[in-house]
Amino acid sequence: MSDKKKRILTGDRPTGNLHLGHYVGSLANRVKLQKEYDSFIIIADVQALTTHWEKEENLTENIYTIALDYLAAGVDPEISTIFIQSMIPELCELTMYFSLFTSVNVLRHNPTIKSEASQHGFKDMTYGFLGYPVSQTADIAIFKAHLVPVGEDQIPHLELARKIVRRFNDLYKPVLIEPDTLVGDVPRLVGLDGKAKMSKSLNNAIFLTDNPEILKSKIRSAVTDPARIRKNDPGHPEVCTISQYQKVFNAAEIDEIHANCRQGSIGCTDCKNNLFNRINILLEPMRERRNKYANNMPLVTEILYEGTKKARAVAQDTMHEVREAMQINYFNQ
Ligand code: TRP
Repeated sequence: MSDKKKRILTGDRPTGNLHLGHYVGSLANRVKLQKEYDSFIIIADVQALTTHWEKEENLTENIYTIALDYLAAGVDPEISTIFIQSMIPELCELTMYFSLFTSVNVLRHNPTIKSEASQHGFKDMTYGFLGYPVSQTADIAIFKAHLVPVGEDQIPHLELARKIVRRFNDLYKPVLIEPDTLVGDVPRLVGLDGKAKMSKSLNNAIFLTDNPEILKSKIRSAVTDPARIRKNDPGHPEVCTISQYQKVFNAAEIDEIHANCRQGSIGCTDCKNNLFNRINILLEPMRERRNKYANNMPLVTEILYEGTKKARAVAQDTMHEVREAMQINYFNQ
C-alpha cells in the first residue's frame, strides 16, 4: 500500500517544546499531508548534540517532549512513522560516504550554518557542527524521500541535499532520490516582540503547550501599533504584531478587522481577545490529544520503538543498495 505513495521525511532537533512558528512553518503541512504521503518524522537527537554536546542529560526528556508535541499536533502514529535518529546507525555510515565528496568551503558558506555559529558564539566550529547538513542529507536520502516539509531556514540544507544526492547518483549508480522542499504557508512567523522570528531562545514564542491563561497573557503583552493610545485612535495594522497573527490565524475576518482598526472602531483589547479565541480553538484539540498520550507514556515509548524499528529496516535496505553502488561489498553478502 505505502509502496505506491511518495515519501515525506522531515523532523526537528529535540531541544524543547514546539511553538506556533513550527506549527505554521512545517508541522501543519506534515499533519495535512500524512494521508497522501508515506510520512517519516525524524527526532534528530544527534543533530541536537552538534550544538548541545555537553547537555546530553536533557536528551531523553526532550525526545519525549517533542514526540508529545507531534502527537498533540495531530501526527497520527497509525499512518506516520516517528523515529529516533541515533538509533539508526546506518545514518552515520551514509553521512561518512557523503562527506567524502562534500566541500568544506561549501559548508562554511551555508547561511544557516553561519547564522547558527554566530548565535552560539562558535569561533572555531567543530567538525560535527559544520558537517550536520551532510548528516541531514543522509537522513533524507536513506529514506528515499521525495518531499521535505521544513521551515525557511532549512532551504540551504535542502539545496545541499539535492546536490549531494545528484553527485552520488552520478558518481556511482542512480539509487537515491533528489528531494523537493516544501516550505509552510507562513515561512517566518514573527515573535511576540514584533521584532524577530518566533523562537524559544528569544523568549517571544507561543508554545503548543501553553494553557489558556498563559496564552491570554502572552497575547495581551504583544506589541501593537505604538501610535494608538486611545481605543478610538485610528490604527495601522501594518506595524502591529497582533495584525500579523490575525492574518495567519483568522484569515476569514482579516479584512473586516483591518478596516475596523483603521477607523478606530475596534480597540486593541477587543482585537486581542478575538485573536486569543482563534488560537485557543486551534490549541484546544491539541491539549486534549496531549493529555491522552501524556497519561499513557508506555504507549509513546511503543510508538517511538516501533517507528524506529520500521525506519531502520528501510535504512538497511537503502544501505545495501548504496554499498553495492559503491562496490563496497567485499564478501558478497
Ligand atoms: N535541521 C532540522 C532542525 O533544525 C532537523 C532535521 C534533521 C531535519 N534532519 C532532518 C529536517 C531532515 C528535515 C529533514 O529542526
